[in-house]
Amino acid sequence: MNTLPRGREIILGIGGGVAAYKSAELLRRLQDHGFLVTVIPTSASLNFVGEATWEALSGRPVQSSLWNNVHKVPHIRTAEIADAIVVAPATADLIARIASGRADDFLTNVILASDAPLLLVPAMHPQMWLNEATIANVETLRSRGITVLEPDIGRLTGKDSGVGRFPEVTRIISSLQELLLSDSDLLGHHLLITAGGTREPIDPVRYIGNRSSGKQGYALAFAAAKRGAVVTLISANVQLPDIEGIETIHVETALQMFAAVSERFPKVRALIMTAAVADSRPTNAALSKIAKNDLGAIETTLNPDILLEMSRSKTSEQILVGFAAETSKDELVERGTRKLIAKGADLLFVNDVSDGAIFGTNETAGWILAQGQSPIAVASATKDSLANQLLDSLALKLGYAND
Ligand code: CTP
Repeated sequence: MNTLPRGREIILGIGGGVAAYKSAELLRRLQDHGFLVTVIPTSASLNFVGEATWEALSGRPVQSSLWNNVHKVPHIRTAEIADAIVVAPATADLIARIASGRADDFLTNVILASDAPLLLVPAMHPQMWLNEATIANVETLRSRGITVLEPDIGRLTGKDSGVGRFPEVTRIISSLQELLLSDSDLLGHHLLITAGGTREPIDPVRYIGNRSSGKQGYALAFAAAKRGAVVTLISANVQLPDIEGIETIHVETALQMFAAVSERFPKVRALIMTAAVADSRPTNAALSKIAKNDLGAIETTLNPDILLEMSRSKTSEQILVGFAAETSKDELVERGTRKLIAKGADLLFVNDVSDGAIFGTNETAGWILAQGQSPIAVASATKDSLANQLLDSLALKLGYAND
């Protein structure tokens, strides 16, 4: 069963044991389950299976030394993209190094720099597994919430047999899925997210638009899917590629967005309106280009307020999340709170866009507001990190609505 959203990024660390070759099969099966795998072998493991094998099987470059591509700070970059790290085989030495927080090669640097769930798959000789030092290291790791699988019992390298065999690949993958599912607090919830900025045609070449890049909406859609949600994205005029596994409907104008949201809203648990919707549109878009001299004044008509309209039709189970872009630094919370209430939203992120800040950048700052709760400050976060902070608040509300 593969209930996970596709696009899950896994790091597969390979320890220096003879079972390293079995991880080639593990890598293949992970890919069959839709995981995207980056392999990081320790230098000791390269005595058993070389980098070329991992590159060919994973289809990705393989780095084992800390001292390559240093200018790109690869251990931090790699740590950041990981949704989970699997170390297989985890040797006694690697287990000891991870337990004591060492960072003396590329793999242990990535492990230390990542907050992704960690799954260790031990394989070693029984005497090493049952050695008091290893037992204590495994206990330490488990007490920190790290999953250490029990090795299988059976025939080992040479004539020996006992506990220490590399576990069956199906057991490793189901442990990984369990680990990732426990991270999936939005599992099964259907969310509707709008992103980008609408364009209101004046004539066939001109439009009224805005500077929204869509990055925040896409970050939310991606983060929500990773947390198990089913996401429908309504996207207006963005330069971003569609995200695998997320149904994306492309619209241009506020009226098209209104129609797309109205149609889908009754079927979802939450609507997140990150889109910058033009407040008004030219009343009569001209069919041919308007001459310069006739552009002195354009008659406009107000667009529907999508958030407000949905708040009027929403059930008590549904949650509405709004965004507000404000240019008045001193009154952010006051203005945001007024908008939250006026629009009937449950949550609203108010951000400071004075001096052209925020639009098109990867950083954001502001406040998460909820009716009847104290504002939560978000200081200079990436749009990905804000997405997760907002989803934390949303997950709590969805939880309450479920009760
Ligand atoms: N919004 C909407 N429909 C509109 C305008 C805005 O659904 N026609 C949503 C936005 O997606 C956002 C929230 O309402 O989530 C606040 O948008 P904002 O532009 O700050 O609010 P306005 O109502 O346009 O208020 P202002 O008078 O400050 O422009």
